[in-house]
Amino acid sequence: MLKSNYCGDLRSENVGQTVTLAGWVHRRRDHGGLIFIDLRDKEGIVQVVVNPQMSREAHEVVSEARNEYVLQITGRVERRPAGTENPALPTGEVEVLAEQARMLNPSKTPPFYVNEETEVDEYLRLKFRYVDLRRPRMHDNIILRHKVVRYMRHFLDERGFIEIETPILLKTTPEGARDFIVPSRLQPGKFYALPQSPQLLKQVLMVAGFEKYYQIARCFRDEDLRADRQLEFTQLDLEMSFVEEEDILRLVEDLYSGLIKEVTPHFQVPTPFPRLSYAESMARFGTDRPDLRYGMELQDLSDLVAESGLGIFSAAVSSGGQVKGLSAAGCAGYTRKQIDELTELARSYGAKGLVTMAVDAAPREGAQSVQIGSAYVRSNVAKFLTPEQIQGIVERLEAKPGDLLLIVADKTRVVAEVLNRLRAEMAKRLNLADPNTLALAFIVDFPLLEWNEDAGRWDAAHHPFTMPRDEDIPLLDTAPEKVRAKSYDIVCNGLELSSGSIRIHRRDLQERILELLGYPPEDADARFGYLLQALEYGAPPHGGIAPGIDRTVMILAGAESIRDVIAFPKTQSATDPMTGAPSEASEEQLRELHLMLRELAEDRA
Ligand code: AMO
Repeated sequence: MLKSNYCGDLRSENVGQTVTLAGWVHRRRDHGGLIFIDLRDKEGIVQVVVNPQMSREAHEVVSEARNEYVLQITGRVERRPAGTENPALPTGEVEVLAEQARMLNPSKTPPFYVNEETEVDEYLRLKFRYVDLRRPRMHDNIILRHKVVRYMRHFLDERGFIEIETPILLKTTPEGARDFIVPSRLQPGKFYALPQSPQLLKQVLMVAGFEKYYQIARCFRDEDLRADRQLEFTQLDLEMSFVEEEDILRLVEDLYSGLIKEVTPHFQVPTPFPRLSYAESMARFGTDRPDLRYGMELQDLSDLVAESGLGIFSAAVSSGGQVKGLSAAGCAGYTRKQIDELTELARSYGAKGLVTMAVDAAPREGAQSVQIGSAYVRSNVAKFLTPEQIQGIVERLEAKPGDLLLIVADKTRVVAEVLNRLRAEMAKRLNLADPNTLALAFIVDFPLLEWNEDAGRWDAAHHPFTMPRDEDIPLLDTAPEKVRAKSYDIVCNGLELSSGSIRIHRRDLQERILELLGYPPEDADARFGYLLQALEYGAPPHGGIAPGIDRTVMILAGAESIRDVIAFPKTQSATDPMTGAPSEASEEQLRELHLMLRELAEDRA
C-alpha cells in the first residue's frame, strides 16, 4: 500500500508514530512559510503541517499542490498545540508534521468545490460524478447504502434465506410500466425484455422448492422519472413459501426496525408499525402513503352539507362525490393574498376551488363573522351556509380559535388528491414533521383491481399475480371493484418503501384473474405460459415483498432525491451526462441485430 494509515483514522493514540498517508488535498492554506493541508481519504480528513525548516523538499512539493491534487505524505503524528484543536473533526486533536511529500497526481481545477456544501447544477454534478461523489455528504450516502445492503444480507442469511440471481435478459414481467427491450442477434426479429422486477422468477423459485429466496435485484422500468423514481433501481426482492400475510409483515418489521437501529440509530422508529387498511388510509389522509408523523387528518363533511345552499357542496355530494376538510392550526390569520395562493395551489392539484373558514377567538374588526359558541368564524361562503352547518363543520374538524379550515368538494378521487397535497403543504409550513422520526406503517387490504378509465378495463392494483382475499373471491364475477387483495405496502414519512403480496398458486385462479385483466387464454399463455405451467407442478402457497433499496436509503440519508443515493443515476430526462448514454448504435451494430431505423411521421411532426 502507498499508505500506512487512513487520514480519518488518526487519533491522539497515534501521537509519536511516523505514518505515511495518501489522499486528496481538501484545503490548503499557505501561511508564508508554514503550509497547512487538509488531506482527505475515504475515512476522513487530517491536518498536515509542512514546515520548510523540517523538509525543504516536502515544502516545495506541497507549494505546488492545489485542491484535489493527490499527495503522499510521510510524517510524525503530533498533538496539536493547545488552543488549536478542532473539535469539529474526529482527527481534530492531532496533526501530521510532514517529513516527505510526493505528488502522485495533479488535478485540474474541479468544476465545483468538494470542500463546500454549495448548491451545484445537477447536470454538472452528474457529468463530473467522480468529483461529486468525493463530497462528504455524497460519500456518506454511498457508504450508508453499503451498510444497508450488508445488514439486509446478514439479516436474511441468519433466517435461512438464500441469495439467487435471476437473468436480466428476460421476457416481460409486468409491474405496470413500459418494458425496456433488447434486440436479439441470434434470433432475428426477437427481443428480450429487461425485468421490471424478478416477480415471476421468484415465484418459479418457490415452485422449485427453495422456500426462502432473496436477491439484491436490479429492476428496469421505462417510466417518467421523479425525485423518487429511476429507470433502473434496486429492490431487496424476497419470497417465502408456506406463509401467510402475517409472516411477511413480521419479517419486514423486524428487518426495518433492526436495520434502522444498526445503521441510523439517531432515528426514532415507533413500533409495532401501525397497520391501516387502504380504505382507512384513503379516508383519513387522502393517500395510500400517508405521513404519520403528524395528525391534521381529513374529515368527511358530506353528510353535514349535502342539503346546503352552497351549490358546489350539494352538487358534489348529489353526484356521488364528497366534501372533506382539514384544520390547519394557527393559520386563521392568513391574509387574503395567502388564501388566494392556497386556492391556486389547490387548483394546481386539480380542485375547482377551495373553501376556507378562519376560526377566531374574538370578532375581527371590519370582517363579517358568524358566532359559533365562543368562537367567531369568517368564511368566503358563510352566507350560503346556516350557522348549524358551520357549527357542524367546526365541531367535526375539532377546530379551535386560531385554526384555518380548508375544505374541498369534488369527485372522491380529486378531494383525496387535493387534501393530501394540502395536508403535506400545511405540515411543511407549520414544521409539523419531526425530521428525527421515521413513521413506518403497513397499508393492507388494497383493492385487487383498479378501473383504468382511459383503456376501459381493469388493471391489477399491485400486479396480476396477487391473491384475492378468500372471502372476496365470489365477488370476482359480481363486483370486481370490491375484491380486496392479500397485498401490503410499507410506507414511511409519505413515501412508499415496499410492496408485496401473497400470490396466486393455482393455475385456474391465475387464469381467471388474467382473463379479468384482459388477457385471453392464448395471450396469457404466450406471455406467462411458463408461470401458469409451473403452477401445475406442485406450487406451494407463497408470498413475498420487495423493499425498494434506493428509497430506503434516501429516507435514512435524509436525501431529497433518489439520485443522491445512487452512484451513477440518470437525469430527469433519462440520460447519463458522464458516459453520454443513451447513444446511437453504429450501422454495423444495427445490421447485426437485423434492425433498420425508420423515422415515423408522427415523430417528425
Ligand atoms: P413494486 O412495483 O411496488 O412491487 O415495487 C416495490 C418497491 O420498489 C421501489 N420502486 C422504485 N424505486 C425507484 N424507482 C422506481 N421507478 C421504482 N419503482 C418501484 C419502491 C416500491 O415500493 N414484484 C413486486 C414486489 C412483490 O410483490 O414482491 C414489485 O416490484 O420502493
